[in-house]
Amino acid sequence: MKILVIGSGGREHALVWKLKASQLVKKVYAAPGNDGIGMMAETVNIKVDDIEGLAKFVQEKNIDLTVVGPELPLTMGIVDYFEKKKLRIFGPTKTAAEIEGSKAFAKEFMRKYHIPTASFKVFEDKDEALSFAKNAAYPVFIKASGLAAGKGAIRAENSDEACDIIEKVMGDMIFGEAGDKIVIEDCLVGPEITVMAFTDGKTILPMLSSQDHKQVFDGDEGPNTGGMGAYCPTNIVNEQMMQTIKEQILEPAVYGLEKEGRRYKGILYAGLMITTFGPKVIEFNCRFGDPETQAVLPLLQSDLADIFIAIVDGNLSIIEPMWKDGSAVCIVMASKGYPGKAETGQKITGLRTYRENHAYLFHSATKKDGKNWLTNGGRVLGVTAVSKTIPAALKAAYNTVENIHFDGAHYRRDIAYQAVK
Ligand code: AMP
Ligand code: GLY
Repeated sequence: MKILVIGSGGREHALVWKLKASQLVKKVYAAPGNDGIGMMAETVNIKVDDIEGLAKFVQEKNIDLTVVGPELPLTMGIVDYFEKKKLRIFGPTKTAAEIEGSKAFAKEFMRKYHIPTASFKVFEDKDEALSFAKNAAYPVFIKASGLAAGKGAIRAENSDEACDIIEKVMGDMIFGEAGDKIVIEDCLVGPEITVMAFTDGKTILPMLSSQDHKQVFDGDEGPNTGGMGAYCPTNIVNEQMMQTIKEQILEPAVYGLEKEGRRYKGILYAGLMITTFGPKVIEFNCRFGDPETQAVLPLLQSDLADIFIAIVDGNLSIIEPMWKDGSAVCIVMASKGYPGKAETGQKITGLRTYRENHAYLFHSATKKDGKNWLTNGGRVLGVTAVSKTIPAALKAAYNTVENIHFDGAHYRRDIAYQAVK
Protein backbone atom coordinates (compact mmCIF):
# COMPACT_ATOMS: atom_id res chain seq x y z
CA MET A 1 0.00 0.00 0.00
CA LYS A 2 1.14 3.57 -0.76
CA ILE A 3 0.33 6.32 1.74
CA LEU A 4 0.51 10.10 1.54
CA VAL A 5 0.92 12.03 4.80
CA ILE A 6 -0.05 15.71 4.58
CA GLY A 7 1.85 18.17 6.79
CA SER A 8 5.38 19.18 7.65
CA GLY A 9 5.94 19.03 11.42
CA GLY A 10 7.15 16.68 14.12
CA ARG A 11 3.68 15.17 14.33
CA GLU A 12 3.84 14.19 10.66
CA HIS A 13 7.36 12.81 11.10
CA ALA A 14 6.05 10.57 13.89
CA LEU A 15 3.12 9.49 11.68
CA VAL A 16 5.44 8.68 8.78
CA TRP A 17 7.77 6.76 11.09
CA LYS A 18 4.94 4.68 12.56
CA LEU A 19 3.32 4.02 9.17
CA LYS A 20 6.68 2.93 7.70
CA ALA A 21 6.79 0.22 10.37
CA SER A 22 3.55 -1.29 9.04
CA GLN A 23 3.70 -4.57 7.11
CA LEU A 24 0.95 -3.20 4.90
CA VAL A 25 2.87 -0.13 3.78
CA LYS A 26 5.23 -0.25 0.82
CA LYS A 27 5.88 3.45 0.32
CA VAL A 28 5.17 6.71 2.12
CA TYR A 29 5.02 10.16 0.55
CA ALA A 30 4.84 13.42 2.49
CA ALA A 31 3.46 16.75 1.28
CA PRO A 32 5.25 19.01 1.80
CA GLY A 33 7.10 17.17 4.61
CA ASN A 34 10.52 18.44 5.64
CA ASP A 35 14.09 17.27 5.05
CA GLY A 36 14.03 15.13 8.22
CA ILE A 37 10.86 13.41 7.03
CA GLY A 38 12.61 13.11 3.66
CA MET A 39 14.97 10.54 5.18
CA MET A 40 12.10 8.05 5.41
CA ALA A 41 9.51 9.27 2.92
CA GLU A 42 9.50 10.80 -0.54
CA THR A 43 8.61 14.45 -0.08
CA VAL A 44 6.73 16.47 -2.65
CA ASN A 45 6.42 20.22 -2.56
CA ILE A 46 2.65 20.65 -2.49
CA LYS A 47 1.16 22.94 0.16
CA VAL A 48 -1.27 21.50 2.73
CA ASP A 49 -4.08 23.77 1.50
CA ASP A 50 -3.61 22.96 -2.20
CA ILE A 51 -6.39 20.39 -2.11
CA GLU A 52 -6.67 20.03 -5.89
CA GLY A 53 -2.90 19.64 -6.24
CA LEU A 54 -2.84 16.98 -3.54
CA ALA A 55 -5.68 15.03 -5.16
CA LYS A 56 -3.94 15.17 -8.54
CA PHE A 57 -0.73 13.85 -7.00
CA VAL A 58 -2.60 11.00 -5.31
CA GLN A 59 -4.20 10.03 -8.63
CA GLU A 60 -0.91 10.25 -10.52
CA LYS A 61 0.96 8.05 -8.04
CA ASN A 62 -1.92 5.67 -7.38
CA ILE A 63 -1.75 6.35 -3.66
CA ASP A 64 -4.06 4.10 -1.65
CA LEU A 65 -4.59 6.22 1.45
CA THR A 66 -4.07 9.88 2.39
CA VAL A 67 -3.57 10.80 6.04
CA VAL A 68 -4.10 14.45 7.02
CA GLY A 69 -1.93 15.89 9.82
CA PRO A 70 -2.95 19.54 10.30
CA GLU A 71 -6.40 21.08 10.84
CA LEU A 72 -6.35 23.59 7.97
CA PRO A 73 -7.05 21.20 5.06
CA LEU A 74 -9.63 19.34 7.19
CA THR A 75 -11.58 22.51 7.97
CA MET A 76 -11.30 23.48 4.28
CA GLY A 77 -13.01 20.23 3.29
CA ILE A 78 -10.19 18.07 1.89
CA VAL A 79 -11.97 14.90 3.01
CA ASP A 80 -15.19 15.85 1.20
CA TYR A 81 -13.21 16.68 -1.96
CA PHE A 82 -11.24 13.41 -1.92
CA GLU A 83 -14.32 11.31 -1.17
CA LYS A 84 -16.14 12.86 -4.14
CA LYS A 85 -13.24 11.71 -6.30
CA LYS A 86 -13.36 8.25 -4.69
CA LEU A 87 -9.93 8.70 -3.11
CA ARG A 88 -9.42 7.10 0.30
CA ILE A 89 -8.59 9.63 2.97
CA PHE A 90 -8.30 9.55 6.74
CA GLY A 91 -9.90 12.42 8.69
CA PRO A 92 -13.22 14.15 9.43
CA THR A 93 -15.29 15.96 6.81
CA LYS A 94 -15.57 19.74 6.74
CA THR A 95 -18.70 19.91 8.89
CA ALA A 96 -17.32 17.42 11.43
CA ALA A 97 -14.00 19.33 11.59
CA GLU A 98 -15.93 22.42 12.69
CA ILE A 99 -15.55 21.01 16.20
CA GLU A 100 -12.07 22.59 15.97
CA GLY A 101 -12.63 25.18 13.22
CA SER A 102 -15.28 27.11 15.12
CA LYS A 103 -15.04 27.49 18.88
CA ALA A 104 -18.50 29.09 18.87
CA PHE A 105 -19.92 25.94 17.22
CA ALA A 106 -17.94 23.64 19.56
CA LYS A 107 -19.14 25.42 22.70
CA GLU A 108 -22.78 25.54 21.62
CA PHE A 109 -22.57 21.87 20.60
CA MET A 110 -21.15 20.99 24.04
CA ARG A 111 -23.98 22.88 25.73
CA LYS A 112 -26.57 21.05 23.63
CA TYR A 113 -25.13 17.60 24.40
CA HIS A 114 -24.32 18.31 28.07
CA ILE A 115 -20.59 17.85 27.61
CA PRO A 116 -18.83 19.41 30.62
CA THR A 117 -16.98 22.62 29.69
CA ALA A 118 -16.45 26.14 31.07
CA SER A 119 -19.56 28.34 31.02
CA PHE A 120 -19.38 30.83 28.18
CA LYS A 121 -21.01 33.41 25.94
CA VAL A 122 -20.51 33.90 22.21
CA PHE A 123 -20.32 37.43 20.74
CA GLU A 124 -20.53 38.61 17.15
CA ASP A 125 -20.83 42.26 18.11
CA LYS A 126 -17.87 44.09 19.62
CA ASP A 127 -19.94 46.55 21.66
CA GLU A 128 -21.95 43.74 23.22
CA ALA A 129 -18.72 41.95 24.13
CA LEU A 130 -17.30 45.15 25.64
CA SER A 131 -20.40 45.77 27.70
CA PHE A 132 -20.39 42.14 28.95
CA ALA A 133 -16.71 42.49 29.87
CA LYS A 134 -17.47 45.48 32.14
CA ASN A 135 -19.44 43.28 34.55
CA ALA A 136 -17.91 39.81 34.12
CA ALA A 137 -16.40 37.78 36.96
CA TYR A 138 -12.62 37.57 36.46
CA PRO A 139 -10.39 35.93 35.30
CA VAL A 140 -11.90 34.91 31.95
CA PHE A 141 -10.54 33.48 28.70
CA ILE A 142 -11.30 35.37 25.53
CA LYS A 143 -11.02 33.28 22.38
CA ALA A 144 -11.19 34.00 18.69
CA SER A 145 -13.76 31.54 17.36
CA GLY A 146 -11.85 30.60 14.20
CA LEU A 147 -8.43 29.00 13.68
CA ALA A 148 -5.61 31.11 15.09
CA ALA A 149 -2.61 28.75 15.09
CA GLY A 150 -3.00 27.99 18.80
CA LYS A 151 -2.65 31.66 19.74
CA GLY A 152 -6.31 32.67 19.81
CA ALA A 153 -7.02 32.16 23.53
CA ILE A 154 -6.03 35.01 25.85
CA ARG A 155 -6.55 35.25 29.60
CA ALA A 156 -7.89 38.51 31.03
CA GLU A 157 -7.51 39.33 34.73
CA ASN A 158 -9.86 42.32 34.80
CA SER A 159 -12.24 44.33 32.65
CA ASP A 160 -9.55 46.72 31.38
CA GLU A 161 -7.50 43.81 30.06
CA ALA A 162 -10.60 42.15 28.62
CA CYS A 163 -11.70 45.32 26.78
CA ASP A 164 -8.21 45.73 25.40
CA ILE A 165 -8.20 42.12 24.08
CA ILE A 166 -11.69 42.49 22.60
CA GLU A 167 -10.57 45.68 20.79
CA LYS A 168 -7.56 43.86 19.37
CA VAL A 169 -9.42 40.72 18.31
CA MET A 170 -12.68 42.26 17.03
CA GLY A 171 -11.50 45.80 16.21
CA ASP A 172 -7.92 45.46 14.96
CA MET A 173 -8.62 41.88 13.80
CA ILE A 174 -5.22 40.60 14.97
CA PHE A 175 -6.36 37.04 14.14
CA GLY A 176 -8.07 38.10 10.90
CA GLU A 177 -11.51 36.64 10.21
CA ALA A 178 -10.99 34.12 13.02
CA GLY A 179 -11.94 37.01 15.34
CA ASP A 180 -15.29 37.82 13.66
CA LYS A 181 -16.86 35.92 16.56
CA ILE A 182 -15.40 35.47 20.00
CA VAL A 183 -16.08 33.23 22.97
CA ILE A 184 -15.70 34.57 26.50
CA GLU A 185 -15.53 31.79 29.06
CA ASP A 186 -14.85 31.11 32.72
CA CYS A 187 -11.41 30.12 33.79
CA LEU A 188 -11.04 26.45 34.77
CA VAL A 189 -8.53 25.26 37.32
CA GLY A 190 -6.72 21.92 37.45
CA PRO A 191 -4.13 19.90 35.59
CA GLU A 192 -4.56 20.00 31.81
CA ILE A 193 -4.29 16.75 29.87
CA THR A 194 -4.92 15.41 26.39
CA VAL A 195 -6.92 12.37 25.39
CA MET A 196 -6.95 11.54 21.69
CA ALA A 197 -9.28 8.87 20.38
CA PHE A 198 -9.54 6.82 17.21
CA THR A 199 -13.12 6.82 15.96
CA ASP A 200 -15.10 5.81 12.89
CA GLY A 201 -18.19 7.59 14.20
CA LYS A 202 -19.48 4.44 15.91
CA THR A 203 -16.61 2.87 17.84
CA ILE A 204 -14.42 5.08 20.02
CA LEU A 205 -10.97 3.86 21.09
CA PRO A 206 -9.15 6.33 23.34
CA MET A 207 -5.36 6.34 23.18
CA LEU A 208 -3.20 6.61 26.29
CA SER A 209 -3.51 9.99 27.99
CA SER A 210 -0.75 12.54 27.50
CA GLN A 211 0.20 16.01 28.64
CA ASP A 212 1.49 18.92 26.59
CA HIS A 213 3.50 21.87 27.96
CA LYS A 214 2.14 24.98 26.29
CA GLN A 215 4.14 27.78 27.86
CA VAL A 216 7.63 28.49 26.62
CA PHE A 217 9.44 28.59 29.98
CA ASP A 218 9.91 26.22 32.91
CA GLY A 219 7.21 26.36 35.57
CA ASP A 220 4.59 27.13 32.88
CA GLU A 221 5.81 30.72 32.58
CA GLY A 222 5.86 32.95 29.53
CA PRO A 223 3.73 33.04 26.40
CA ASN A 224 1.90 30.03 24.94
CA THR A 225 3.56 28.07 22.17
CA GLY A 226 2.45 25.23 19.91
CA GLY A 227 3.78 22.91 22.64
CA MET A 228 7.25 22.54 24.17
CA GLY A 229 7.11 18.86 25.09
CA ALA A 230 4.84 16.02 26.11
CA TYR A 231 4.79 12.76 27.97
CA CYS A 232 2.62 9.67 27.94
CA PRO A 233 0.83 8.17 29.81
CA THR A 234 -0.13 10.56 32.63
CA ASN A 235 -0.84 9.42 36.16
CA ILE A 236 -3.64 11.99 36.29
CA VAL A 237 -5.88 9.78 34.15
CA ASN A 238 -6.35 6.37 35.78
CA GLU A 239 -8.67 3.73 34.37
CA GLN A 240 -11.70 5.13 36.13
CA MET A 241 -11.02 8.68 34.96
CA MET A 242 -10.55 7.39 31.39
CA GLN A 243 -13.96 5.70 31.63
CA THR A 244 -15.51 8.97 32.84
CA ILE A 245 -13.86 10.86 29.97
CA LYS A 246 -15.18 8.30 27.51
CA GLU A 247 -18.74 8.38 28.86
CA GLN A 248 -19.09 12.09 29.62
CA ILE A 249 -17.03 13.58 26.80
CA LEU A 250 -15.95 11.36 23.91
CA GLU A 251 -19.19 9.40 23.44
CA PRO A 252 -21.58 12.36 23.62
CA ALA A 253 -19.27 14.26 21.24
CA VAL A 254 -19.02 11.55 18.59
CA TYR A 255 -22.66 10.45 18.86
CA GLY A 256 -23.84 14.07 19.08
CA LEU A 257 -21.98 14.95 15.87
CA GLU A 258 -23.59 11.92 14.20
CA LYS A 259 -27.04 13.19 15.29
CA GLU A 260 -26.22 16.57 13.78
CA GLY A 261 -25.43 14.89 10.45
CA ARG A 262 -21.69 15.40 10.92
CA ARG A 263 -20.36 11.85 11.16
CA TYR A 264 -16.91 11.98 12.71
CA LYS A 265 -14.15 9.74 11.36
CA GLY A 266 -10.53 10.19 12.31
CA ILE A 267 -8.83 11.39 15.46
CA LEU A 268 -10.86 13.30 18.02
CA TYR A 269 -8.53 15.25 20.29
CA ALA A 270 -9.94 16.36 23.65
CA GLY A 271 -7.96 18.99 25.57
CA LEU A 272 -9.23 18.60 29.13
CA MET A 273 -8.91 20.27 32.48
CA ILE A 274 -9.30 17.83 35.36
CA THR A 275 -11.17 20.07 37.80
CA THR A 276 -12.45 19.22 41.28
CA PHE A 277 -15.83 18.74 39.57
CA GLY A 278 -14.41 16.25 37.08
CA PRO A 279 -12.98 16.54 33.57
CA LYS A 280 -14.06 19.54 31.50
CA VAL A 281 -13.31 20.28 27.87
CA ILE A 282 -10.98 23.18 27.06
CA GLU A 283 -11.06 22.43 23.35
CA PHE A 284 -11.66 19.73 20.78
CA ASN A 285 -9.27 19.32 17.88
CA CYS A 286 -10.03 17.40 14.71
CA ARG A 287 -6.59 15.76 14.38
CA PHE A 288 -3.56 14.40 16.19
CA GLY A 289 -1.92 16.79 18.69
CA ASP A 290 1.56 18.16 18.26
CA PRO A 291 3.75 17.34 20.23
CA GLU A 292 1.54 14.77 22.02
CA THR A 293 1.67 12.45 19.01
CA GLN A 294 5.47 12.25 19.27
CA ALA A 295 5.04 10.83 22.80
CA VAL A 296 1.94 8.67 22.20
CA LEU A 297 2.73 6.84 18.94
CA PRO A 298 6.04 5.36 20.16
CA LEU A 299 4.00 3.47 22.78
CA LEU A 300 1.50 2.08 20.26
CA GLN A 301 2.24 -1.57 19.64
CA SER A 302 -0.42 -2.10 16.97
CA ASP A 303 -0.13 -1.39 13.27
CA LEU A 304 -1.26 2.19 12.66
CA ALA A 305 -2.10 1.65 8.97
CA ASP A 306 -4.42 -1.17 10.01
CA ILE A 307 -6.27 1.17 12.39
CA PHE A 308 -6.53 3.95 9.79
CA ILE A 309 -7.98 1.59 7.20
CA ALA A 310 -10.50 0.22 9.70
CA ILE A 311 -11.61 3.78 10.44
CA VAL A 312 -11.94 4.76 6.77
CA ASP A 313 -13.95 1.59 6.12
CA GLY A 314 -16.14 2.11 9.21
CA ASN A 315 -14.87 -1.14 10.76
CA LEU A 316 -13.13 0.09 13.87
CA SER A 317 -15.04 -2.34 16.09
CA ILE A 318 -12.76 -5.16 14.88
CA ILE A 319 -9.64 -3.39 16.18
CA GLU A 320 -8.20 -3.72 19.66
CA PRO A 321 -5.16 -1.47 19.86
CA MET A 322 -2.25 -2.81 21.92
CA TRP A 323 -0.03 -0.48 23.89
CA LYS A 324 3.51 -1.03 25.13
CA ASP A 325 4.28 -0.90 28.84
CA GLY A 326 6.45 1.99 29.91
CA SER A 327 6.50 5.73 29.32
CA ALA A 328 7.52 8.14 26.61
CA VAL A 329 8.79 11.69 26.88
CA CYS A 330 9.18 14.19 24.03
CA ILE A 331 11.25 17.35 24.46
CA VAL A 332 10.94 20.12 21.89
CA MET A 333 14.05 22.10 20.96
CA ALA A 334 13.15 25.55 19.68
CA SER A 335 14.94 28.41 17.93
CA LYS A 336 15.89 31.72 19.47
CA GLY A 337 12.89 34.05 19.48
CA TYR A 338 10.22 31.31 19.43
CA PRO A 339 7.23 31.63 19.97
CA GLY A 340 7.81 35.11 18.54
CA LYS A 341 9.77 35.61 15.34
CA ALA A 342 12.21 32.70 15.26
CA GLU A 343 15.78 32.79 14.03
CA THR A 344 16.48 30.30 11.23
CA GLY A 345 19.46 29.00 9.27
CA GLN A 346 21.52 27.97 12.34
CA LYS A 347 23.73 24.93 11.91
CA ILE A 348 22.63 21.92 13.99
CA THR A 349 25.26 19.49 15.31
CA GLY A 350 25.12 16.31 17.38
CA LEU A 351 22.16 14.84 15.53
CA ARG A 352 23.60 11.34 15.41
CA THR A 353 23.87 10.81 19.15
CA TYR A 354 20.21 9.91 19.60
CA ARG A 355 20.96 6.30 18.73
CA GLU A 356 23.20 5.86 21.79
CA ASN A 357 20.28 6.82 24.00
CA HIS A 358 17.75 4.76 22.03
CA ALA A 359 15.85 7.97 21.40
CA TYR A 360 13.81 9.06 18.39
CA LEU A 361 14.33 12.33 16.55
CA PHE A 362 11.25 13.86 15.02
CA HIS A 363 12.08 16.82 12.79
CA SER A 364 9.71 19.82 12.90
CA ALA A 365 11.67 22.52 11.13
CA THR A 366 15.05 21.44 9.80
CA LYS A 367 16.64 21.85 6.42
CA LYS A 368 19.49 19.99 4.78
CA ASP A 369 22.16 22.19 3.22
CA GLY A 370 24.74 19.96 1.56
CA LYS A 371 26.09 17.90 4.43
CA ASN A 372 24.80 20.26 7.11
CA TRP A 373 21.49 20.40 8.91
CA LEU A 374 20.08 23.90 9.52
CA THR A 375 17.21 25.19 11.63
CA ASN A 376 14.23 26.26 9.55
CA GLY A 377 11.55 27.53 11.96
CA GLY A 378 10.41 27.92 15.55
CA ARG A 379 10.04 24.37 16.80
CA VAL A 380 13.04 22.56 15.31
CA LEU A 381 13.16 19.05 16.74
CA GLY A 382 11.22 16.74 19.02
CA VAL A 383 13.44 14.33 20.92
CA THR A 384 11.49 11.34 22.22
CA ALA A 385 12.69 8.57 24.50
CA VAL A 386 10.81 5.51 25.71
CA SER A 387 11.67 3.68 28.87
CA LYS A 388 10.15 1.72 31.75
CA THR A 389 9.44 4.83 33.82
CA ILE A 390 9.04 8.57 33.21
CA PRO A 391 12.29 9.42 35.06
CA ALA A 392 14.23 6.92 32.94
CA ALA A 393 12.65 8.24 29.73
CA LEU A 394 13.42 11.81 30.83
CA LYS A 395 17.05 10.91 31.42
CA ALA A 396 17.46 9.37 27.97
CA ALA A 397 15.65 12.25 26.27
CA TYR A 398 17.61 14.99 28.06
CA ASN A 399 20.93 13.16 27.47
CA THR A 400 20.13 13.30 23.77
CA VAL A 401 18.99 16.92 23.83
CA GLU A 402 22.19 17.98 25.60
CA ASN A 403 24.24 16.54 22.75
CA ILE A 404 22.39 18.50 20.09
CA HIS A 405 23.52 22.07 19.50
CA PHE A 406 22.47 25.08 17.50
CA ASP A 407 22.89 28.78 18.27
CA GLY A 408 20.01 30.12 20.34
CA ALA A 409 18.53 26.66 21.04
CA HIS A 410 16.15 26.58 23.98
CA TYR A 411 13.99 23.92 25.56
CA ARG A 412 12.15 23.35 28.80
CA ARG A 413 14.03 21.50 31.49
CA ASP A 414 10.94 20.50 33.46
CA ILE A 415 8.98 18.36 31.02
CA ALA A 416 6.71 15.93 32.91
CA TYR A 417 7.19 17.81 36.19
CA GLN A 418 3.60 17.00 37.15
CA ALA A 419 4.39 13.29 36.85
CA VAL A 420 7.61 13.31 38.88
CA LYS A 421 6.87 15.91 41.55
P1 AMP B 1 -7.27 26.88 23.45
O1 AMP B 1 -6.76 27.61 22.27
O2 AMP B 1 -8.74 26.97 23.66
O3 AMP B 1 -6.77 25.48 23.51
O4 AMP B 1 -6.55 27.53 24.71
C1 AMP B 1 -5.15 27.57 24.82
C2 AMP B 1 -4.75 27.29 26.24
O5 AMP B 1 -5.27 28.27 27.12
C3 AMP B 1 -5.25 25.97 26.78
O6 AMP B 1 -4.42 24.91 26.45
C4 AMP B 1 -5.29 26.22 28.29
O7 AMP B 1 -4.02 26.05 28.85
C5 AMP B 1 -5.66 27.67 28.36
N1 AMP B 1 -7.12 27.79 28.52
C6 AMP B 1 -8.03 27.93 27.53
N2 AMP B 1 -9.27 28.03 28.01
C7 AMP B 1 -9.17 27.96 29.35
C8 AMP B 1 -10.12 28.01 30.43
N3 AMP B 1 -11.42 28.16 30.21
N4 AMP B 1 -9.64 27.90 31.68
C9 AMP B 1 -8.32 27.76 31.92
N5 AMP B 1 -7.38 27.70 30.95
C10 AMP B 1 -7.79 27.80 29.68
N1 GLY C 1 -0.65 20.28 21.47
C1 GLY C 1 -1.77 21.06 21.19
C2 GLY C 1 -2.33 20.88 19.85
O1 GLY C 1 -1.90 20.02 19.10
O2 GLY C 1 -3.25 21.61 19.50
